[in-house]
Amino acid sequence: MILDTAFVRDQFPPLADGWVFVENAGGTYVPRQVIERTRDYMSETQVQPNWHFASSRRATERITHGKRLMAEFINADHDEIVLGPSTTMHVYLMAQALRPLFTAGDEVIVTEQDHEANVGAWRRLEEFGIVIREWQVDRGTGALRYEMLDDLLSARTRLVAFTHCSNVASIVHDVPALVKKIHAAGALAFVDGTAYAPHFPVDVKALDCDFYVFSLYKLCGPHQSVLYGKRALLNEARNQNHAFITDDNVAYKFLPGGPNHELAAGCVGIADYFDALHAHHRLEPANSLHARLQRLYALIAAHEARLADNVTSFLQSRPGVRIVGRRPSSDGRLAPVIAFYVPGRPSADIVASLNARQIAIGHGDFWAARLVKALGLTAEDGVVRIGLAHYNDDRDIERLLTALDQALA
Ligand SMILES: Cc1ncc(COP(=O)(O)O)c(C=O)c1O
Repeated sequence: MILDTAFVRDQFPPLADGWVFVENAGGTYVPRQVIERTRDYMSETQVQPNWHFASSRRATERITHGKRLMAEFINADHDEIVLGPSTTMHVYLMAQALRPLFTAGDEVIVTEQDHEANVGAWRRLEEFGIVIREWQVDRGTGALRYEMLDDLLSARTRLVAFTHCSNVASIVHDVPALVKKIHAAGALAFVDGTAYAPHFPVDVKALDCDFYVFSLYKLCGPHQSVLYGKRALLNEARNQNHAFITDDNVAYKFLPGGPNHELAAGCVGIADYFDALHAHHRLEPANSLHARLQRLYALIAAHEARLADNVTSFLQSRPGVRIVGRRPSSDGRLAPVIAFYVPGRPSADIVASLNARQIAIGHGDFWAARLVKALGLTAEDGVVRIGLAHYNDDRDIERLLTALDQALA
């Protein structure tokens, strides 16, 4: 069975605008189901939740439903996740919330490959005497130097922050194996799944990481982010909200400023959308959203890998083009994100040429600033990034390759 992209595309109103949209690694369009759930909340129940009058009760139900589904999405319990404004904010808050549990001289390992969201907040702990160690990338490929982790881990290591998949090099890391190693050293594993979750199913229990964070707006959702943490750690981490919020109030203690109600309710639409795909493809029924997603993602991943392989083969055939990370993706260890550059040729010029041909795409460091610098490129010009989503189809790729052919001539 293959993914019915005509049905998929029909769910996304903006895809009818005539452009080929391949800036999905930055943020995807949302399907009509998400728009409807958000609109319904705002038009019917935009009141303070948690009171006893009817519209408030309904608001509470809608918010709670959205949050529960996002927990189910990654096989977590509802009290193990926080729905917040962004991954950057979640990491910042957790770094501050965990800091009192560390002592001066303790070590935190960050990577050179991650988006800055999972780097900068940890680096700020240096102010409090925490020692930051950097897990570096190979200067040629941008791949993480796995062997280096053994040397970095020590009896002082308290936490390792790393990405499940790079948003530029697109390499998927073996999280369970890394977590095992990190746990054996007595440290916590804090994983950024933002570039992974749009393409593969996430099971936080199977990964066994201590924290997992990802942004929903890159997987057809509203501008929100999910933070998962093991229950004991969420309880132990310190309150970042008003003084009267108690440490056992996980739902609120990591949300200074409060939750975004309409977008939490809009998250129900993410589940509606994936369930509509599941039903349309007549996949084997399953009781939990997580199990239905696992079946659906098998179709999605196969479709995306085929498109990504076509793009990769084309780029590999062009002289002078350098693709970041390893290729091709047939080993299933790469997301369908293809970042490339052409030495001596500004990425900005390539993108301008593509934009002129109605290809929605960008260039730069995509805030994986340290990685792009390690590759010897400037942040401003950086790489051209083709970020595919499951709603891209063969026609998109045909148009993209024609435009690339002209842009690279
Ligand atoms: C891998 C990765 N992590 C984190 C982020 C930051 O997410 P947010 O905008 O939700 O802070 C991004 C955004 O581009 C990303 O690609």
